[in-house]
Amino acid sequence: LSAWTDSPPPSLTPCSGLNMFYFQLVIMAGTVLLAYYFEYTDTFPVHVQGFFCFDKAYSKPYPGPEDNSKAPPVLVYSLVTAIPTVTILIGEVTSFFVKSDGAQEKTIVTADCCYFNPLLRRIVRFLGVYSFGLFTTTIFANAGQVVTGNQAPHFLTTCKPNYTALGCQSPLQYISERRACSGNPYLVTSARKSFPSKDAALSFYSAIYTVVNVCDAGIRTKGTRLSKPTLCLVLLSLAALVGVVRVTEHRNHWNDILAGSTAPRSPAGIPLLSLPRVESPLEKLSGLQGYRISEIT
Ligand SMILES: *[C@@H]1O[C@H](CO)[C@@H](O)[C@H](O)[C@H]1NC(C)=O
Repeated sequence: LSAWTDSPPPSLTPCSGLNMFYFQLVIMAGTVLLAYYFEYTDTFPVHVQGFFCFDKAYSKPYPGPEDNSKAPPVLVYSLVTAIPTVTILIGEVTSFFVKSDGAQEKTIVTADCCYFNPLLRRIVRFLGVYSFGLFTTTIFANAGQVVTGNQAPHFLTTCKPNYTALGCQSPLQYISERRACSGNPYLVTSARKSFPSKDAALSFYSAIYTVVNVCDAGIRTKGTRLSKPTLCLVLLSLAALVGVVRVTEHRNHWNDILAGSTAPRSPAGIPLLSLPRVESPLEKLSGLQGYRISEIT
């Protein structure tokens, strides 16, 4: 047992870990609020792009509302929420019971005022960082869609421009007229929000986060040598499948999927912050205070 039992450094107040927790809550609330404004309000109007007359790349048939998709939002969002949660629960509970053979301390003193079961603490931290990343990914995708205004493959089908009135004669003609569309305004606005694909971004974020935190790190038990790579492969394939469905249903172009899938890792994307292995200030503090029992022994 290589535990430090020295008294905590005097510079740290007993509850600074808890203050940090409240600070994280405030950041989280702001992120959720911003995601809400992007998702459910018209606070950020979409950039109106023009189009080329008769453009075949944007004249694909309208696939119907999102709920009719083979990968409907309800399914995608449920999986994106459930898969990492279930995976981490199984993984953590398994490794907890495997490790507890050594009969190490089950409760770690984080500060004078807070006691945490290490299992519970790891799970809460994993899910907290995960949901923060999920909301930042949503914001990233929504902001990209609104700023670029890149159109979906079915854009012209929902836009229904009157080519005669617009004077379209050849496909080389560019129409920048803002009110060129005569179709349902709601559908037209939705068809302007295509780049990057939010579904692809969320699916890949979910898969990569789970792979990085569960498959790559964390649990090291004998029985999982083969099942871990399999799980990782299945998760990434599922995310890729969402992208394939979006493209075959003419809801997105390939570059929308590509941009969405690289979003969590792109240098410009904020979600990058939450991708490395979960490490919260709460744990660093507890380590500093000398109460932490080394897990490596
Ligand atoms: C398109 O515009 C032309 C000329 O303005 C008009 O005669 C025609 O009825 C319009 N077509 C539709 C489908 O609105």
